[in-house]
Amino acid sequence: MQEELVGEATRKVGTGDENIAEVGNWARDKLSLLREYITISSPARKRWIRPTSEATYIDLFCGPGKSQCRDTGELLDGSPVVAWNASVLSGVPFSRVFLADASAQHVHSAADRLRTLPAAPVASFVGPGESTVNDIYRELIPWELHFALLDPFNLEDLPFSVIERLAKLKHIDLMIHLSTGDMQRNYATYTDAENATLDRFAPGWRKAVDFNAQPFAQRLAIVRHWFSLLNDVGLPHAPAMHAARNSKNSRMYWLIFASRADIARKFWTAAQRYLREPTLTLF
Ligand SMILES: C[S@@+](CC[C@H](N)C(=O)[O-])C[C@H]1O[C@@H](n2cnc3c(N)ncnc32)[C@H](O)[C@@H]1O
Repeated sequence: MQEELVGEATRKVGTGDENIAEVGNWARDKLSLLREYITISSPARKRWIRPTSEATYIDLFCGPGKSQCRDTGELLDGSPVVAWNASVLSGVPFSRVFLADASAQHVHSAADRLRTLPAAPVASFVGPGESTVNDIYRELIPWELHFALLDPFNLEDLPFSVIERLAKLKHIDLMIHLSTGDMQRNYATYTDAENATLDRFAPGWRKAVDFNAQPFAQRLAIVRHWFSLLNDVGLPHAPAMHAARNSKNSRMYWLIFASRADIARKFWTAAQRYLREPTLTLF
């Protein structure tokens, strides 16, 4: 990771329709990567879809299930719809889908959209990720296969306790939106002694940072510390990371993948490569 992200964050709904989120064009890459990963990992998922076992999809920041690119007006399916459809099209649908969002409107809209699709088995929860993760965890069979998308607007919404809870699952694969753009924009605020954002996001971060270093090096140290926390809970990240860029080619955030399973990290690398060269596997 050579440079940090700058620019805007995804803005909330601005389309006039509360059930459609307004997004930047970079959201397309996120959704494509999600689709590719779910497609490429279908052979592994297939081994879990039996009468006595299951493979679930968990979307803790699910959004309303539909978005619109603010520059082009293009309508995009939201992450829960993309994930479900990719699983169906790959021939290995998720056994159950868990949706959650702090916005009741978003959760209900996303769940309604999924329920119009054939056989989508949806359970939905309203609240901040740090509490809905516990509600969902109680519903899960801990030794089965689970995939979670963590796609918050900012670092504040992703306390490490969320990842710690999910890491208690034996087979959990995580796709995480790491908002280094938020860290860059708000670094002065976040490092204020009174501010708890980074304490929640990356507990112990102060010990990892040399406060005499350049701000960029300080932020990098925090991200590296967060990676080490992922390692500590047994979920190393895949070396391949996707940088989401805005129209000025500035990095907005990174998409990170973490898993105990070597094969899952390999699937991610393949999905990421496909995103860069989408004709690679066409025949
Ligand atoms: C980037 S959007 C998610 C977009 C969605 N994953 C997609 O690709 O279609 C972030 C979502 O997080 C929700 N949100 C904001 N703060 C939250 C929190 N603390 N816990 C859970 N959801 C939150 C917002 O309502 C919004 O729907």
